[in-house]
Amino acid sequence: MNVYDSVKMGDLLKPHGFSLHDAPEGADMVILNTCHIREKASEKVYSELGRIRKEKERLQKDGSNMVIAVAGCVAQAEGEEIFKRAPFVDIVVGPQSYQNLPALLEEIKRKNSWAIDLDFHHEAKFDTMPEDSGSQGVSAFVSVQEGCDKFCHFCVVPYTRGAEFSRKVSDIMRETIRMIAMGAKEITLLGQNVSAYHGTSEDGSEWTLGLLIKHLVKLKGLERLRYLTSHPRDMTDEELFTVHATEEKLMPFLHLPIQSGSNKILQAMNRKHTREFYLDLIAKFRLARPDMAFSSDFIVGYPGETEEDFLDTISIVREVGYALCYSFKYSPRPGTPASALEHQVPEDVKDERLQRLQSVILEEQHKFNLQKVGMIMPVLFDKVGKKEGQIAGKTPYLQTVIIKGDVDMIGTTANVTITAAYQNSLTGVVVR
Ligand code: 5AD
Ligand code: SF4
Repeated sequence: MNVYDSVKMGDLLKPHGFSLHDAPEGADMVILNTCHIREKASEKVYSELGRIRKEKERLQKDGSNMVIAVAGCVAQAEGEEIFKRAPFVDIVVGPQSYQNLPALLEEIKRKNSWAIDLDFHHEAKFDTMPEDSGSQGVSAFVSVQEGCDKFCHFCVVPYTRGAEFSRKVSDIMRETIRMIAMGAKEITLLGQNVSAYHGTSEDGSEWTLGLLIKHLVKLKGLERLRYLTSHPRDMTDEELFTVHATEEKLMPFLHLPIQSGSNKILQAMNRKHTREFYLDLIAKFRLARPDMAFSSDFIVGYPGETEEDFLDTISIVREVGYALCYSFKYSPRPGTPASALEHQVPEDVKDERLQRLQSVILEEQHKFNLQKVGMIMPVLFDKVGKKEGQIAGKTPYLQTVIIKGDVDMIGTTANVTITAAYQNSLTGVVVR
């Protein structure tokens, strides 16, 4: 979502004389688009700001200037505190108000002081988004939904991104068509809670995610469609199972975070589902689409997590056989219910559990990848590889495939025989 928002901020500032650069040296403006989900991500902002400050001071000595803006969820959570800790910052803007960046730039000039906007205006944000957005390349994001009403007890998202909001169907259609016209072959529909999508269509009726997908796959030029991230509790849309069974362009892959395998911890987290409910869902998706692959997020060391609870998490990783997993140590976030709980798990226990979980995850990922050796799979190439003469792409199951190939192949799909599998990637040769 932050990658998507950053592209949009760039688009928004283009008519105001700015162009995108990938380094702060000599820049007229630097925007730090920040993440507040875990403490580590949050703290990085201040060390990064320290570095940028030096460049600002260098420019000021030469008689020019640099506007520094802090955007995103750290901006939303810390607000004016940022000016206190880093008085050289000019603008603080939350994730639901960055459409006002041009006005904030005017304000700092007019007042010769700092400016801040932390309001939540979802509708206005999408309505004022520039139409002529730039290309995102072969694989593009389209935001369809923002915010979250789930209030998991560890999570800051409902506070920083605000209440659940779905974009209008016509806006999503228009943006998707534009992305395809600019070379996108794959679209990923984005939302903090994308499975809760309920946008208004042209005739005033409400569309679910399944219905939206059913229409989007008809778009010419679109080869692959994905969506991210889903909450198990919202996977009640029968249409979604149907489109997975019938629509070839909808990739057989689902990111479905469970966070923990222990029912006790799931309840304490306020996840509103059990382990059994989750496993039933997985089975239902596999019934609709037998080759469906899954990924998940996990938190270890949630307050009160015992060794037994943790072993339930290990066992669910084994039981599902994930294609991909992300795992994190629980990080207490200010203002969330879990941060005030007793029985916080000591740091060394969290470290040790994370290591154990990650080794099981890697084993499972490797197993999943090994199943594909010898198979022929369609791979959509989207970038150059790390080594000279290599290009990289993705299988339908989101595995990275590296082959020897020409850069001209980027943006195309080719059938590839998989020759070897590793924990995080595959290698192969194109079928001629
Ligand atoms: N501590 C650790 N991980 C967290 N996540 C969200 N909040 C926290 C937290 N306080 C993880 C969850 C979520 C992913 C995006 O980040 O696993 O699914
Ligand atoms: Fe956070 Fe996801 Fe829970 Fe919403 S559903 S509160 S975004 S972890």
